[in-house]
Amino acid sequence: MSASAPTAVICGIGGYVPPRVVTNRDLEAVLDTSDTWIRTRTGIAARHMIDPGTATSDLAVEAGARALVSADGAPADAVVLATTTPDRPCPATSPEIAARLNLGPVPAFDVSAVCSGFLYGLATAAGLIAAGAASRVLLIAADAFTTLIDPADRSTAVIFADGAGAVVLRAGDPAEPGAVGRVVLGSDGALGDLIQVPDGGSRRRFPGPGAAPCDPYFRMRGRETYRHAVHRMTEASRAAVAAADWELDDVDRLAAHQANGRILATVGEELNIPEGRRLANIERVGNTGAASIPLLLAQSAAEGTLAAGHRLLMTAFGGGLAWGAATAVWPDVKAG
Ligand code: UT7
Repeated sequence: MSASAPTAVICGIGGYVPPRVVTNRDLEAVLDTSDTWIRTRTGIAARHMIDPGTATSDLAVEAGARALVSADGAPADAVVLATTTPDRPCPATSPEIAARLNLGPVPAFDVSAVCSGFLYGLATAAGLIAAGAASRVLLIAADAFTTLIDPADRSTAVIFADGAGAVVLRAGDPAEPGAVGRVVLGSDGALGDLIQVPDGGSRRRFPGPGAAPCDPYFRMRGRETYRHAVHRMTEASRAAVAAADWELDDVDRLAAHQANGRILATVGEELNIPEGRRLANIERVGNTGAASIPLLLAQSAAEGTLAAGHRLLMTAFGGGLAWGAATAVWPDVKAG
């Protein structure tokens, strides 16, 4: 890429959660769990869940429309959706979103990187802009994660939830507020079994010969995942901050994937970023998968805890294993 390739600049933000709120007390009624266990082990008090009939695209269209309004309503010329829960296995969900948002015959495709999907999508969108393939990308991260959850599995059913977040990225200059710094990404597929939906793909199809016993649900080996999450998010964060020519002390706001309140605290402590600079909404939304970071940005911007000029560090970790981090100076945008 030439030195003059355009940089992706954030110019719009939007978030959406479905209206139904499920509290820890609601879960106590159906699972062998307790409000105390969930709060102390995860930091979650409530989350939003879709009702039957609602799909990922419904969440994505809401968040995408809000981000477009926030970006002054100018249309996007590409749509990227990060999700683990597409409406259908085939085709991608993004073209339908582009059509429902009346964006015309723009390029549209999905990115699959589980809870790191937003940062993988950010790198992808920045690449489209740098390559001149698009000048204004609508990047949406949306998950109807509860559609993958085994309602009887208390180790995941209390954590994962539904939501969407979106940003509009336009072609700009690296010195502008909103310019996205180098997106640091990584993966370790040797540990892919730690977080997986075992069946339903090409390896173990269902129904079919040899398919039983069949497990179509999301499974996570939480304790082992925890250790990797802290290490990888810390490491990627340091690399992203160095790439921006910042010191960790320069970081005004940390927006980490809302996986677990204890993980967020440990990552913050390892990076020496005090609690007052760590954005958090896990208590009220739980773990919303790919949507986690942009939803957090949208809610924080709307509430004023994230403001223009803040030096922002984002980091995520999840299934793959896959992780990432990126920086930006938060621009003067109204949250949609
Ligand atoms: O978003 C993608 C990335 N995800 C992550 O990074 C998640 C990382 N992992 C975690 O956040 C934590 O490991 C969990 C929140 C998933 C679990 O917390 P933990 O402190 O690691 O608990 P644990 O899995 O070690 O389980 C401790 C105990 C077990 O009982 P025993 O074996 O000690 O008798 C579990 O059966 O807690 C039990 N337990 C529960 N008890 C009440 C597990 N889930 C529940 C529950 N309610 N919902």
